[in-house]
Amino acid sequence: MGLLIKSIHPNHIRTGEVTDRSLYMRRRDFIKSAGAGLLLYGSGLAGCRSEDRSEAAEAPPTSSALNKIHGVAKSPYSTSEEQTDYEDATSYNNFYEFGTDKSDPKRYSGSLVTDPWSVRIGGAVAKPGTVSIDALLRSHTPEERIYRLRCVEAWSMVIPWIGIPLGKVLERFEPTGNAKYVAFRTLHDPKQMPGQKRSVLEWPYREGLRIDEAMHPLTILATGMYGREMPSQNGAPLRLVVPWKYGFKSIKSIVAIDLVESQPPTSWNMQAPREYGFFSNVNPAVDHPRWSQRKERRIGEFLKRETLPFNGYADEVASLYSGMDLTKNY
Ligand code: MTE
Repeated sequence: MGLLIKSIHPNHIRTGEVTDRSLYMRRRDFIKSAGAGLLLYGSGLAGCRSEDRSEAAEAPPTSSALNKIHGVAKSPYSTSEEQTDYEDATSYNNFYEFGTDKSDPKRYSGSLVTDPWSVRIGGAVAKPGTVSIDALLRSHTPEERIYRLRCVEAWSMVIPWIGIPLGKVLERFEPTGNAKYVAFRTLHDPKQMPGQKRSVLEWPYREGLRIDEAMHPLTILATGMYGREMPSQNGAPLRLVVPWKYGFKSIKSIVAIDLVESQPPTSWNMQAPREYGFFSNVNPAVDHPRWSQRKERRIGEFLKRETLPFNGYADEVASLYSGMDLTKNY
């Protein structure tokens, strides 16, 4: 892959975005806007220029147009930490299918048709099949999971997701003994996802987990956040959330889940294998080759905070990796 593509990694914060962001922050309050300056550690070539974008691109509906999700159960896995403002969580996004600026997903993801939507579950399962989002929600009680989200770019948020444990969904399809890994795929449709007209990544976006990670109770398929259906820019109508891993593992707008025997190819790992490992567990002891992972900036806060091993979920998940050298298996 060429230099341009290689240069477009999640660390890229470009002039246009910084302007948008700081203007927006200034409206909110001065201290927070000072904090936004701390985000300015990235620089590089432009990735997706605005004139390249499809004219069909349109903004998604506002939050009040998204239905509330009823009958949501609370979960002991939720953190009581202060939640990120809804406005921040839905306007500062990574979703390269709609452009590489943080503000692009909110601006341009209105072209994504999220209803009807179904997910095909196949591979090493006794009962492969396709399930609609409605059927998923009818068969499982949605739970609120207030999780920390730590991006590999060293910013973080706290988001009240609404979702279903992935393990419970997979069990219904009866994984066979050959199911060692789970491979996920995002929709591939450049008409709806104009960013896919450019080869910033090899489309469709792909992610993967080891089967024990997928079956872990912290791992969810999220259909909503902040009490309502998922906004398009956050990965409607169905995205993965794996809170102890860097955010890029949490693949958005999933259309296919395959249980497979060997480790599946994953988008950022294919793009830059030295920089983005398959496991990508949050680990302050292993720096990204181009920046430190010891600290993070919680969006909305001024001072950086320490990044915690496994993003603070070590008690729950560290045992999954016992005996593994996590500096090598990054
Ligand atoms: N999924 C798809 N399909 N495409 C993407 O570009 N970006 C990832 C992840 N899932 C991405 C994706 C990255 S880098 C992060 S940090 C999170 O989504 C961001 O989720 P958020 O925008 O809801 O905060």
